[in-house]
Amino acid sequence: MSVEVRSPDGLLRVVVAVVDGRLRYEVARRGRVLVASSGLGLDLAGWPSLTGGLVLESLQHNTIDESWRPTWGSDAIVRNHANECVLRTVRPTSGLRLELVVRVFDDGVGFRYRLPAQSGLDAYTVTAEHTEFALPPTATSWSLEAGKDWNADERHYRRAPLADVRTAQTPLTLSTVDGQHLVVHEAALVDYPSMTLAAIGPGTFTSELISLPDGAKARLRGEFRTPWRTLTIGDRPGDLAESHLIENLNEPCALADTSWITPGTYVGVWWELQRRHTTWTAGPHHGATTARTKEYIDFAKEMGAGHVLAEGWNSNSGGTWSGQDFLTPQEDFDLAEVLRYARAKGVGFVAHNETRGFVDDYDRSLETIFARYAELGISAVKTGYATKFVLGGVHRSHFDQEAVRHYQRVVDVAARNRLMIIAHEAIKPTGLSRTHPNLMSGEGVAGMEQQHYKGEHGNPPEQATILPFTRFVGGPADYTPGVLNVTWDPAGLGTRVQTTAAAQLALCTLFFSPAQMLADTPENYRAHPGTEYLRGLPTTWDETRFLDCGIGDHVVSARRKGGTWYLGAITDEHERTLRVPLSFLGPGPHLAEIFRDAPGTSWHHDPLPVDVRTEAVDASSTLALRLVAGGGAAIRLTPS
Ligand code: NOJ
Ligand code: CA
Repeated sequence: MSVEVRSPDGLLRVVVAVVDGRLRYEVARRGRVLVASSGLGLDLAGWPSLTGGLVLESLQHNTIDESWRPTWGSDAIVRNHANECVLRTVRPTSGLRLELVVRVFDDGVGFRYRLPAQSGLDAYTVTAEHTEFALPPTATSWSLEAGKDWNADERHYRRAPLADVRTAQTPLTLSTVDGQHLVVHEAALVDYPSMTLAAIGPGTFTSELISLPDGAKARLRGEFRTPWRTLTIGDRPGDLAESHLIENLNEPCALADTSWITPGTYVGVWWELQRRHTTWTAGPHHGATTARTKEYIDFAKEMGAGHVLAEGWNSNSGGTWSGQDFLTPQEDFDLAEVLRYARAKGVGFVAHNETRGFVDDYDRSLETIFARYAELGISAVKTGYATKFVLGGVHRSHFDQEAVRHYQRVVDVAARNRLMIIAHEAIKPTGLSRTHPNLMSGEGVAGMEQQHYKGEHGNPPEQATILPFTRFVGGPADYTPGVLNVTWDPAGLGTRVQTTAAAQLALCTLFFSPAQMLADTPENYRAHPGTEYLRGLPTTWDETRFLDCGIGDHVVSARRKGGTWYLGAITDEHERTLRVPLSFLGPGPHLAEIFRDAPGTSWHHDPLPVDVRTEAVDASSTLALRLVAGGGAAIRLTPS
C-alpha cells in the first residue's frame, strides 16, 4: 500500500510506501520526478536493521496552516502551510517501532524519523542512517565536498554535473534540465550529528552522518525525533532563496521575552587584524586597546550600527590562544571603561570567545562567564572554534553529536543571560533561530576572512552568486561583507578582496544576517563615498524578493523595511547589463539612490570608485544596471 501526500497547491506530490519491508519515498513536481523511489531507515546497535522487515501499522493525515512572526527575519510574517502524514511501522520480529513524518509544502518537503517511547529503547546507539536521495543525475549541482574538518564549510562551492559528485555537505543545490531547482538540506539539527551525502550511484546519495570518536553516530535515550531531511523546491532559483521551509520545520520561539534581542549592523576590531595591521596578542601593535575600541564605538554611533566587536580584548588572545580567560581583559583594554563608553553612546558590546578548540574549558566555565557578562551589560558573544575541537577529553569533529550538543548549550546558557550569539566554525544553520532567536548567525561559509588570503585565488566573484541558493538556504551567515577599500594592504600581504567596492555594498543586503557586520575600518569607511549607503542600514526585513537570478552568474535581491527598499545586484567574473523592473515598489514616486561601479572601474584594475547618483522612479520604471566584472550595484528606494 502506498500513501500520497500533496502540497497545498497540488503541484508537489510525495508517495511513501513500505516496499518489501522497507520504507521508500518518491517526489514529483508538475508531473516530473525529482526524487525517484528512494529507501529509508536506520540501524540501531543490537537490533535488526530498520531498513527492512517493516510492516505499516497505521497512518494519520493532518493539515498545518498557521502564520507566525519571526523575532527577526527576511519577511515580517511567515505562513507555515503543509499537508502531513505520519506513518507508523513495526518490525514484528523485534517489536521495534519506527515512525516517519512527512510534510509537503508548496515550496518543498520535509521528513523525519521518530522512535516512539518503547520497551528496550531506554538508552541506544544509532550506528547508521540510510536515507537515500535518488536525484536526477543529469542535473547541474553546486555543493561542497563532505568533510569532518573544522573548515569543511569554509570552502568554495563546486559546480558539477550531479552524476560526478561523490560526496557533499548539505546544502546541496541542483537545477534540473527542465528548469526546476532543488536544495537538499536538514532542519532542526538537535542532539544528532550533521548529515552529509555519499554517492551510491550516479546522482543517488545516501545519508552519511558524522561519527563520534568511537565510530557510533548518535547516543540517544527514549523517544527521539531526528532532524528533518529537507528538499526545498522551486521554479526559479529565487524561490530557493525566498523559501521559509527550513524555519517552518523548526519549533516556535522558546523564549517568552525577546525584547533584548536587538538585530542591527555591527563594526569592530576585526578587519585590521585580518589584514595584519594590528594584532590579537598583547604588544606594540595590539588592536583591541581601550582607545582604539572607543574609536569604533564612535564610528558605530555615526553609522547607526548597534554593536561593537573587539577581538583580542581578553587575556592570552592570539598566538596559541591557550590558557585564555574570557573574563580578564588584556592590560591595555579597560573593559569597565569600554562598556561605560559604549553604553553612553547607545552601542552594545560583542565579547569575542575564541575557544581555539579548548572546548572542555569553555564548556565548564560557560555559566560563570555568561552570568558575569550579563551583570556587566554585555549584549552578545562571538564564539570561535578555529582548528581543533577537544570535548570530553578527546579530539572530535566539529560536526558530531557532542559538538552539536555543545553549540546548543552555548545558545541556551546565553538565552538565560540575555546574550546573542554569533558562532564561527560551529555547525551549519538548520533553522534553529526560529526557536532560539538569540542565535543570530553562524559562519559556515568562506566569508571575507577567506576572501583576501590567497591573492587572485581568494573567493572568486562567482562564489557570492552561488551562496544565496546554497549556504543561505540554511539560515543567516556572518560573512562580514562591506569592505569598501578592497585593496587595503597595510602589511604588504599582496592579497586583496576579489570584488569591486560597489559589489561589497550590494552584499550587505543581498546576504542575510540579523547581525550584519560592516567589516571595514572607520578610516577606510570615512574615506569612501559608498559609506553613505550603509548608514542606518536595516538588517531585518518586512519583505524579501529575489528577482533576476542565475546561480553562479548574477543575483538581484530586493528587501523592504517599512517603505524603503534596498536592492542589491552582483555579477560573477563577467560584466553584464541587468534590466530590473521596479514593479515591486508601492504606488507613487520614489527616489532611487544608486551606488554603482563608476565608469572605467574594474575588479582587476580600479575596483574602488563608486558612482553615486539619484533618479526619480516608480513601479513602472525599469533600471538598466551595467555591472562590471566582479562588480555590483546597491540601490536605496524611498517614497518621495
Ligand atoms: C576565525 C574566525 O572566523 C574569524 O572571524 C576570527 O577573527 C578568527 N578565527 C580568530 O578568532
Ligand atoms: Ca572562520
